[in-house]
Amino acid sequence: MKTTGHTILITGGTSGIGLAFAKEFQLLGNTVIICGRRQSRLTEIEQSHRGIITRVCDVADSKDREDLAHWVISNYPGVNVLINNAGVQLLADLTKPVDLTRVNSEVETNFIAPVHLTSLFAQHLSTKTDAAIINISSGLAFVPIAFMPVYCATKAAIHSLTLSLRYQLRNTPVKVFEIAPPAVDTELGSDRRADKSQSHGGLAVQEFLKEAMEAIANDTLEAPIAGAKNLREKGEAMFAIMNS
Ligand SMILES: NC(=O)c1ccc[n+]([C@@H]2O[C@H](COP(=O)([O-])OP(=O)(O)OC[C@H]3O[C@@H](n4cnc5c(N)ncnc54)[C@H](OP(=O)(O)O)[C@@H]3O)[C@@H](O)[C@H]2O)c1
Repeated sequence: MKTTGHTILITGGTSGIGLAFAKEFQLLGNTVIICGRRQSRLTEIEQSHRGIITRVCDVADSKDREDLAHWVISNYPGVNVLINNAGVQLLADLTKPVDLTRVNSEVETNFIAPVHLTSLFAQHLSTKTDAAIINISSGLAFVPIAFMPVYCATKAAIHSLTLSLRYQLRNTPVKVFEIAPPAVDTELGSDRRADKSQSHGGLAVQEFLKEAMEAIANDTLEAPIAGAKNLREKGEAMFAIMNS
């Protein structure tokens, strides 16, 4: 799809991949709306990137999601692209009783929120001549890392959801993309790093962004990026290597 002239809602735009998409899409001449839980970050971004529109929203909260969709559609009726990006990555040892609050919050953020937001926007997007839903999954959708089992399962669910959604929207103008990042150097999982400024490792965000933007521009609807391609192709045959 063309990468200019849209009105784009990005969930989780306060850091990492979401913020990189926000800046890039704004530079390319799109109206960009981002959301996140951290008001302070949103304020900083509004000040440093004039024109990016922000809204506090906890996508793990169904009322917040409904309010967000209503607010965006009422105030920015031109909205024609939804990027389901917000995500958290938690460790879980399922050999012991888990803290269900954490599990629920991870599933709600990574999976239920995209399901709900998609359903809240789909009819509106279908009225546009050019529209898209872009789901951010992960290479770990295809091969799990066993110490983060719930995270990987939510990403496998996003992959499956995207296939079904693409089929459900096949007779509408809405293109449905899945971008599957490899490990990218963002704040993901920083809550479990002793030194918060420590790198996550993985691909530089700008390298990820370049390949992801090319996939969007070229209508590559399913786009594993960089090392995630190998995981997509080889699937669970990579499990032992990934978990060694
Ligand atoms: N980095 C990687 O290696 C990697 C690999 C594969 C897939 N991904 C996926 O890429 C997406 C973006 O992650 P990232 O790597 O850019 O991590 P990040 O830097 O930690 O960014 C995550 C974003 O999600 C937002 N978020 C988290 N929980 C939220 C909630 N309940 N409500 C609203 N916003 C929420 C955060 O904002 P607030 O904290 O302000 O709410 C932040 O803007 C995620 O879906 C992640 O699973 C990342």
